[in-house]
Amino acid sequence: MQPSLPPGPRAPSVIQGLGWWTRPIAYMERCRAQYGKRFTIRLPLLPPSIMLSDPADIKEVFQAPPEVLHPGEGAKVLEPVVGPHSVILLDEKPHLEQRKLMLPAFHGEKMQELEGLVTQIAEREVDSWPRDRAFPVHEKMQKLTLEVVLRAIFGVDEGERLDTMRDQLTQLAAFATRPEGMLPGPVQDQIRRLGGKWAYYGELSDRFNESLYELIRERRTTDGEDRPDVMAMFLAARHEDGSPMSDDELRDELMTMMVAGHETTASQLAWIFAILPREPRVLATLTQELDAGDGDDYLTAVINETMRRRPVLQNAEPRLTKQEVTIGGWTYPENVSLVASAYLVHHDPGIYRDPYSFRPERFLEEPPGTYTLIPFGGGRRRCIGASFAIMEMKVVLRAVLSRVELHAGAERGEVAKRRNITMSPRRGSPLRVTERVREPLAA
Ligand code: HEM
Repeated sequence: MQPSLPPGPRAPSVIQGLGWWTRPIAYMERCRAQYGKRFTIRLPLLPPSIMLSDPADIKEVFQAPPEVLHPGEGAKVLEPVVGPHSVILLDEKPHLEQRKLMLPAFHGEKMQELEGLVTQIAEREVDSWPRDRAFPVHEKMQKLTLEVVLRAIFGVDEGERLDTMRDQLTQLAAFATRPEGMLPGPVQDQIRRLGGKWAYYGELSDRFNESLYELIRERRTTDGEDRPDVMAMFLAARHEDGSPMSDDELRDELMTMMVAGHETTASQLAWIFAILPREPRVLATLTQELDAGDGDDYLTAVINETMRRRPVLQNAEPRLTKQEVTIGGWTYPENVSLVASAYLVHHDPGIYRDPYSFRPERFLEEPPGTYTLIPFGGGRRRCIGASFAIMEMKVVLRAVLSRVELHAGAERGEVAKRRNITMSPRRGSPLRVTERVREPLAA
């Protein structure tokens, strides 16, 4: 019993883990109702997690010095996929250096350069959708965001290589979102030796890595070509000593972009399409703005409101305390996890009036706050791909709404389901679209 931790449920960690895994939203909300804005939960094999939902506490966590809190250590479970160089796994100086190396690839003007390519991918995808028949749009979004990762981030051109890598990644991504994909690397290695589907996925992953290394080596020889993709920026990046990223570093960071950016963006888009057909007023206002082609304030507000109401990552990366630290009047010991809960902050009636309603206008009346709208986390660990994800979501919404009318694909609205770390629409977000009939332009 550690007296300095905020109170929380006292059930054994296995029971708490079960609640947290199977009914994540209800479990968090029940804990907050009972224990308030900071409470401690205990999950099997993990240090105690202090769930924080007071923006003042969250600000202190996001601003704490890098040697005090370590988010990288908490993400170790990803190492078998992303590799040891991944920015997500690093802390302190190595993290800051790696992040500095990668950030220029995501600057505003770079995003603009990529918009054309992403638009082309999105338009082609919408054109292939069935008309007037319900289909699960989440799958389509997964396909779309995978294509975007391969072409706009990895920089693979259309052709045989794209087809092979797309096929490999589709299979690997489906495997990774199953619960066994979350087992620690050494355990996975052991099971691989048993053969069967595990061995198959192991070989597939080796083959995909070979394709990626081959791509990296080839791109080094054509370095200097003027290309807008993220790979080109990574190839041009230089460490403080002037050296470029090694092949292993490049592979690890590209895989990091894939792991961090593919399913997150797909799920967030799936939520937008789960919500919009059921909000005719919002949909009409948004369509009007897009048709007018005059600014995108409402589009931005719709995206913010979707990320508030349905954050695909319920919380920021857990920050492991490396020394005693006082936050919000509580002194936490070493080796506990401080977790900023986006879901709880976003559904606090003291911060958002009527928090369960979907009302993008709230963000036109008052711009989002740094510590009250936190779908991308914050501080020096804030999502590197946030501007990329927002650009992609805007492009997809424009491509869809300029081509088709949206209709709900099922009678009942969607509910959330955990797919490892993301919260996705349980039934895959059924959608029905019909060809958009446009009024002829006045002569
Ligand atoms: C809607 C889509 C996305 C959401 C909701 C999302 C959310 C997040 C969150 C919550 C974090 C943790 C931040 C923290 O702990 O403070 C994060 C980190 C990260 N995200 Fe995203 N993300 C999205 C898309 C992307 C994309 C498209 C990319 C890359 C192209 C990306 C790359 C990363 C990376 C590299 C990190 C680690 C940053 C670090 O540790 O310094 N994300 N993201």
